[in-house]
Amino acid sequence: MPREWDAKTYDALPLPHLGWGRRTLARLPLKGDERVLDAGCGTGRDTEGLLDLLPDGRVVAVDGSVRMLDQLRERLAGRLDRVEVVHADLTEPLPFEGEVDAVFSVAAFHWIEDHAALFRALAARMRPGARLVTECGGRGNIAAVNAAVADVRGGAPDMWDFAGEEDTRRRLAAAGFTDVEVALRPDPARFEPGEQFEAYLATVILGAHLDAMADADREPFVKAVAGRLAEPVADYVRLEISATRA
Ligand SMILES: C[S@@+](CC[C@H](N)C(=O)[O-])C[C@H]1O[C@@H](n2cnc3c(N)ncnc32)[C@H](O)[C@@H]1O
Repeated sequence: MPREWDAKTYDALPLPHLGWGRRTLARLPLKGDERVLDAGCGTGRDTEGLLDLLPDGRVVAVDGSVRMLDQLRERLAGRLDRVEVVHADLTEPLPFEGEVDAVFSVAAFHWIEDHAALFRALAARMRPGARLVTECGGRGNIAAVNAAVADVRGGAPDMWDFAGEEDTRRRLAAAGFTDVEVALRPDPARFEPGEQFEAYLATVILGAHLDAMADADREPFVKAVAGRLAEPVADYVRLEISATRA
């Protein structure tokens, strides 16, 4: 299973994910009666947006973090009759019945190393003609933050291998997708300096580094990374995908 998240702190942060979610929802054509998979749904912010667009439809909300899903259940209390909440690893055969009419995902795929397995697992649950509309970190994402991390840690390897356009097109085609559109979009996010930026780094970007550290080392590490950046900016580059299940 993927790592656990601090879901309460996550939801309290000023997340650029809000804008990414709105942008990705706007790219997904829906009639209103579909069954849509929210892949890596986290605390359910966009699951809620999907429910608003699906008055006669349903959402399958899949995530690998129990705490994120608990927070989703709290957020969507009263609307859970139209949500199937599934705790699962997106690179494994997905444990729900039947097929979906579309797959939606925001800020999740870069946490997954094996995109070939991810696309195969999604394709296996999509009806022919179903749309995949997603975004995540792409090639070049948070290069400055990663350089600061490498500097602090003395050349530690990157935590992520952010996918590029060509690799992604090839993997999608191999998994059975057509009408593939893939684009990289630079999208830096600026934060308040100090506490707010450090909380964002600790909860969202550096969480996987911190998991492997002793408690006492965590705060100094986050402060050291923030201190090496010229500005309180996460230099995001988003990988946007639209494709159709053949
Ligand atoms: C940055 S959060 C994004 C959550 C939500 N989509 C949003 O935009 O706020 C990334 C999410 O992907 C989930 N995730 C990462 N790897 C996963 C995997 N292999 N299987 C299922 N979920 C995964 C994490 O648990 C986390 O909830």
